[in-house]
Amino acid sequence: MSNENFEFMRRKIIAGNWKMHKTFPESLEFGRHLNTWMIANKPQAEVIIMPAFICLEQMIKDLRNSKISVAAQDVSSEARGAFTGEVSAEQLKSIGVNYSIVGHSERRHYHGETDYYISQKVALLYEYDMTPILCVGEKIEDRSTGRHFDIVRNQVIGALHEQNISKLKNLIVAYEPVWAIGTGKTASPDTAQEMHAYIRKVLGEEFGIAVGNSASILYGGSVNAGNARDLFQQYDIDGALVGGASLDLEDFTTIINARN
Ligand code: PGA
Repeated sequence: MSNENFEFMRRKIIAGNWKMHKTFPESLEFGRHLNTWMIANKPQAEVIIMPAFICLEQMIKDLRNSKISVAAQDVSSEARGAFTGEVSAEQLKSIGVNYSIVGHSERRHYHGETDYYISQKVALLYEYDMTPILCVGEKIEDRSTGRHFDIVRNQVIGALHEQNISKLKNLIVAYEPVWAIGTGKTASPDTAQEMHAYIRKVLGEEFGIAVGNSASILYGGSVNAGNARDLFQQYDIDGALVGGASLDLEDFTTIINARN
């Protein structure tokens, strides 16, 4: 398929990355309450929650007929084999998972993940018809030395350059400046917009204008109930990847409501 044939389909998405928070019962209970809220409020944005691996199967069952997608926080860069503690794309797909985060800065920094590993993960997700949520973002020292655009460009291209372009129509990228994650220091709407527009331009130049125009680019990094609406006013900000504030139902639903 020619990449010029893609339909323009930027999606409004609010994703909640719970990281290593919430027990199994707490996660299920949150899912039930969020579903009740979704039925009553019918938000415009698509909602994705990422609980711990142990919760995925039951939450997918519980929320099967809901508007909430349940996704993984990570996936192995290997297809299968002797990789203790890893969970493969094929295994995730076998319980009905359709999305996984890849390249989260906490994986890059605490687990030494490189763009090469991240590109392997992206390829495996595509092989099993799943959609990666590719996280990119610069550290504070990259920004203070003026290298932030180059760093983010390299992360985007490093993860995607070997993929089949026809797969990239489902692309979801999360711009998460490392200095904003879990710090309470959100990027200003203008700063985030500048990088989102740049990411869209890079995608268009590298993979075709249709890929750039149809990508959903989420902002992540200390998004909360108070700052979400201003971020969503920006033309290239399609939604958010929310960490801390996704753990609280009232905060998370306020953010979902802000994306309309
Ligand atoms: P935060 O995390 O919202 O707590 O800053 C965002 C993320 O790591 O995805």
